[in-house]
Amino acid sequence: MAVSERSGGGEATMTRQDKARIFALFGRYINRNQIKYLSAGHLDVFETRRLGVGFTDPVSGCRMYDCFTAAGCFNVSRHNPEVMAALADAADELDMGSSLLSSPLKVELARRLAALAPGDLNHVIFAAGGGEAVECALKLARAATGRKQIVSTVKAYHGHTGFALSANGKEHYRHCFEPLMPEFTFVPFNDLEAMAKVVSNQTAAIILEPVQGEAGIFPATEAYLRGLRDLCDKNGALLVFDEIQTGFGRTGRMFAAEHSGVVPDIMTVAKSLGGGLYANAATIYRDIPLLRNFTAQHPDFHETHCGGGDIACKVSLKVLDYLEEHRLCENAARQGARLKEALQELMRANPKIIREVRGIGLMVGLEYVEEFLGPMMSDALAKHGVFAAYSGNAPQVMRFMMPITVSDAELDDIIAAIQGAVKDMKTLLPMALLAAKIPGVLSLLNNEQIQTTLFTQVRKVEDLWHRIAGR
Ligand SMILES: Cc1ncc(COP(=O)(O)O)c(C=O)c1O
Repeated sequence: MAVSERSGGGEATMTRQDKARIFALFGRYINRNQIKYLSAGHLDVFETRRLGVGFTDPVSGCRMYDCFTAAGCFNVSRHNPEVMAALADAADELDMGSSLLSSPLKVELARRLAALAPGDLNHVIFAAGGGEAVECALKLARAATGRKQIVSTVKAYHGHTGFALSANGKEHYRHCFEPLMPEFTFVPFNDLEAMAKVVSNQTAAIILEPVQGEAGIFPATEAYLRGLRDLCDKNGALLVFDEIQTGFGRTGRMFAAEHSGVVPDIMTVAKSLGGGLYANAATIYRDIPLLRNFTAQHPDFHETHCGGGDIACKVSLKVLDYLEEHRLCENAARQGARLKEALQELMRANPKIIREVRGIGLMVGLEYVEEFLGPMMSDALAKHGVFAAYSGNAPQVMRFMMPITVSDAELDDIIAAIQGAVKDMKTLLPMALLAAKIPGVLSLLNNEQIQTTLFTQVRKVEDLWHRIAGR
């Protein structure tokens, strides 16, 4: 069977009994609550026939558009046949290689990343995943400057490992693990004045996402990024851009930094670098004496056994070829503009549901008037064959981040599904909005656990109805 004909994800069909058994085992060995959340939101699906912009649920047989893409992991599409072929070739002749030794593939990928990255960002340290790339960036910033303070932004998301978690701008993720790394400061995003108040000659680095993802899709303004660059230069601090979600064409340029022309001192990349097939990540830093000298003197300051392995590098090189050969940055810019226009039209027609549409390229957020509408919309979208997830740090914002290979016809289909989901929500909304006016009810509706319980009950009634109706 040719690579492109394989159905990634196992069996093409599955019975309800198989599904129940797998979910029971998932609950038993992995996480009980996750299954509850997924079922409540009609996302109790599996992924077979992973190809292009979606996958098929083997139980219902429904095709679903993947508008989540694990928050930007599948820029070059699901189970991309060309990247699959590169992986198959790599697996035939290579393993990951020894982390201690040099390798032509590692060098080739580092050269390629250096050529693509903005300005003089041309030194590469490989990592196994995004969180680790952020660890490496912040360690480098602290050690090279000899300073401790790291300034991050409110609602930022940088991962779940030590330094990265310490830079996460939402209490929810941090509070169980306090005390985390010391001297992390948080300021509101896109607020230069607030940043200027905390940055000093004691600051090691400012870290931010050029487009905040988990915070609810907020692009940084050009003036803000230029202001941050000046602030860092004046204070001898380093500027770190986390491009883990925004990199590799997602925003319509290879890296989001290119929209402003501001070159950070350190940039982290991951996710789509691995083509959704073989994880790979990197911390890329500028050719400046402060950083170059530190890494030359401390070559072992950061080590990983899996990041930048030979198989990963071969896959990543193919991903970069694919992005360029298929001009996917241009496609992301063009389809992103179409999607935004359609969502803005939907907003004008539904001011009681949608508050704002924002984003850049195919990183688009749709903000609802109330927080509890996020899970409702996720559910409504799933019923229309669209898998989308609301922002981790802003449940009122639905993210649309489909593969940037999406064609005109596929995007038209996705837009029609979103319109259908909003139409469905309109039937429930008057009741929910009325209930939200009762004192205390709004906070109950916004509570994730209560939502799950409510949706689970609705789901049970639906399932019963389908069984009675023989569907
Ligand atoms: C902006 C950003 N930074 C860091 C990370 C962490 O990456 P990983 O999950 O590979 O550790 C993510 C993951 O969603 C991210 O979106």
